[in-house]
Amino acid sequence: MNKFCQLSLLCISLFCFFLSTQARWHNHTKHSKHKKSYISQPPSSSPGPAASYSPPPEEPKNPYNSTPGVFDVRSFGAVGDGQTDDTQAFKMAWDTACQSESPAKILVPNHLTFMIQSTIFTGPCLSGLVLQVDGIIVPPDGPESWPKNNSRRQWLVFYRINEMSLQGNGVIDGRGDKWWSLPCKPHMGINGTTLPGPCDSPVAIRNVHVESISISAPARSPNTDGIHIENTNDVKIYNSVISNGDDCVSIGSGCCDVDIRNITCGPGHGISIGSLGNHNSRACVSNITVRDSIIRVSDNGVRIKHGRVDPEQYLE
Ligand SMILES: *[C@@H]1O[C@H](CO)[C@@H](O)[C@H](O)[C@H]1NC(C)=O
Ligand SMILES: *[C@@H]1O[C@H](CO)[C@@H](O)[C@H](O)[C@H]1NC(C)=O
Ligand SMILES: *[C@@H]1O[C@H](CO)[C@@H](O)[C@H](O)[C@H]1NC(C)=O
Ligand SMILES: *[C@@H]1O[C@H](CO)[C@@H](O)[C@H](O)[C@H]1NC(C)=O
Ligand SMILES: *[C@@H]1O[C@H](CO)[C@@H](O)[C@H](O)[C@H]1NC(C)=O
Repeated sequence: MNKFCQLSLLCISLFCFFLSTQARWHNHTKHSKHKKSYISQPPSSSPGPAASYSPPPEEPKNPYNSTPGVFDVRSFGAVGDGQTDDTQAFKMAWDTACQSESPAKILVPNHLTFMIQSTIFTGPCLSGLVLQVDGIIVPPDGPESWPKNNSRRQWLVFYRINEMSLQGNGVIDGRGDKWWSLPCKPHMGINGTTLPGPCDSPVAIRNVHVESISISAPARSPNTDGIHIENTNDVKIYNSVISNGDDCVSIGSGCCDVDIRNITCGPGHGISIGSLGNHNSRACVSNITVRDSIIRVSDNGVRIKHGRVDPEQYLE
């Protein structure tokens, strides 16, 4: 169930599971298509260019940084026109916020679309970070437009971070359409043949909280797990809506104490535990709870899958 090539949902996996603690999403919406219909109110911490400001001396003098502790990506040069590569600006905003000794918020302002390439945001940071996504974040559109030396297996990675929250009313739009036709794992080829395509697994830790997130991908998009967790303990997934073309929540080996409450799945393949024991390996999963949830228009409810050496076992 490693779908890391599948960018539209990739970001969800990455955001949620590379965080070591407390990933919180508030009314976050995600679309598989590049739409612009989800912006709600601007955050109180999002001053316009005209706002009065009194920046602390160590921050750049910049109209976007009028609130202490808030690092607006525009003040680091991000343009947000959906075309300009804003990767460096995001990295600078990240690094600056990360070095802040007081709690810092990185603001991705609304009404703008920021294009960023495959990026690893690295910690540890000096204090807790909030990544406030009110605008739209998109990758380069499809494999053809990705820079040649960019990883095609990951888009947004948060690495070695403690105490980070991701929140906001914005959209992380993986623009998955053009990737879904690429193989990610062993999959059905023509005339019943099996084609290769192994993917990386996320490595994650513990204490992940996913709250009020909305994930969507077309029902026919392949390998688009909503949330995939692996090697992670103490996971809470609450009050969320997931519709896609594969597992709603996929719980891989090495997971324990997973609590799923009030989620709505469908269309999709339901909630899965597995595939366990691929290649005769040993895999343990324990204490998984699913309650108060709705699974509809799905080909399974909750199921346990196991893998064997037989590659047919991978086919879905
Ligand atoms: C987002 O959630 C907050 C509470 O967490 C709520 O007050 C607000 O109305 C919600 N916004 C939308 C657009 O759903
Ligand atoms: C990719 O190449 C560009 C220019 O050749 C360079 O600026 C960039 O840092 C490289 N990115 C990676 C991830 O190596
Ligand atoms: C697939 O099967 C059809 C019908 O049996 C055959 O005509 C076609 O050549 C096969 N395609 C390949 C690539 O083997
Ligand atoms: C369940 O989640 C939905 C969002 O999917 C939310 O609107 C609803 O209030 C939640 N119900 C409870 C009891 O928390
Ligand atoms: C099972 O997981 C829940 C959290 O989802 C935790 O509160 C509970 O203590 C765990 N039970 C056992 C027996 O570990």
